[in-house]
Amino acid sequence: MSDAITTRVTPGARGAAPLLTYRDEQFTDAVAQATQPMWEQLHGLISDVDWLLKAPLIHRIQRLKKEKRALILAHNYQLPEIAYGVADRVGDSLQLAQYAAALNKDDAPVVVMCGVHFMAETVKVLAPERTVLIPDAAAGCSLAESITGADVRLLKQHYPGAPVVSYVNTSAEVKAESDYCCTSSNAARVVEAAAREFGSPRVIFLPDRYLAANVARQTSVEIIAWHGACMVHERFTPEQIRALRAQFPGVRVLAHPECPPEVCAEADFVGSTSGMIRDVQTSGAAKVVMVTECAMADNVAAENPEVDFVRPCVLCPHMQRITLAKIAAALETLSPQVEVDEKVVHAARRAVERMLAVSAAPASARS
Ligand code: 13P
Ligand code: SF4
Repeated sequence: MSDAITTRVTPGARGAAPLLTYRDEQFTDAVAQATQPMWEQLHGLISDVDWLLKAPLIHRIQRLKKEKRALILAHNYQLPEIAYGVADRVGDSLQLAQYAAALNKDDAPVVVMCGVHFMAETVKVLAPERTVLIPDAAAGCSLAESITGADVRLLKQHYPGAPVVSYVNTSAEVKAESDYCCTSSNAARVVEAAAREFGSPRVIFLPDRYLAANVARQTSVEIIAWHGACMVHERFTPEQIRALRAQFPGVRVLAHPECPPEVCAEADFVGSTSGMIRDVQTSGAAKVVMVTECAMADNVAAENPEVDFVRPCVLCPHMQRITLAKIAAALETLSPQVEVDEKVVHAARRAVERMLAVSAAPASARS
């Protein structure tokens, strides 16, 4: 693998373009009419005053999407005004990758990723001919930042013959050094497929030490883990879960597998963000707590008004960098664009496509 692996975000015209503010827009009759369907979904989650400020931006983004033939993908953690107001597809990391992989040549030439940088890179890796925009280039991830391509090369030297499975929450450079990619919804399946294919009793699994420990409980494959952690999920503790159960008897506890294993052991269900959404829809529980980034509870509550959500709140500062104003500015200026070196695209795509082939998960996110 070449040392000259680079990924970058180009400022494009963004440097010169003033960031749009809510004040640039007026709540006209036309805006009210065009945004009425979104208001019906968001009513209750957004105050009337907030709506007067946000609806004009939603209207403007809808107009810009048509003009630029752009598609907006959003992660489940995005704010309701983004998920319901402007996104064409909303999902977990696997679903977002599946959407990108399913784009055909006549689909939108511009894709806006409302999520974090590695998600935008994954779109670029799967659809390199598209202009991929991320509304805030500083939207990173503590997991992706915990490991570099050079670290992976050292691990491979140390454990020869062991395949490398990297979590999707990594840079394209790290994926390019990996044999397989995986997400929270298919990690154990991918680890077993990798071990089988390479005839190896052990797998290097990176970078999340907690996801690694949670996967190790589901497989007999030996897991060699890295020391990364999600700055949101590592903050939850088993004591908090027990306290929530004591305060809210009968509450159903759903946890993301980036939480420490002791937290997952206290949960009724452990799964990806979309797995949690499906559990809310199917379990019949009247009261639910989602042990994950808390913006998601607002989105899920909008579609499940009969469920009572207990909301301990830990926000991901990276995910919350994405705002309507920044999405409008990105579409206006077609920047910042995510670029990935051609050699990296090729090698990283192999790892992501291997995951997509292994995963049988249906693409069932909202559209
Ligand atoms: P999901 O793939 O479950 O959506 O998780 C992505 C993520 O960043 C969770 O913190
Ligand atoms: Fe990364 Fe954690 Fe934020 Fe997800 S919640 S993007 S894993 S820092």
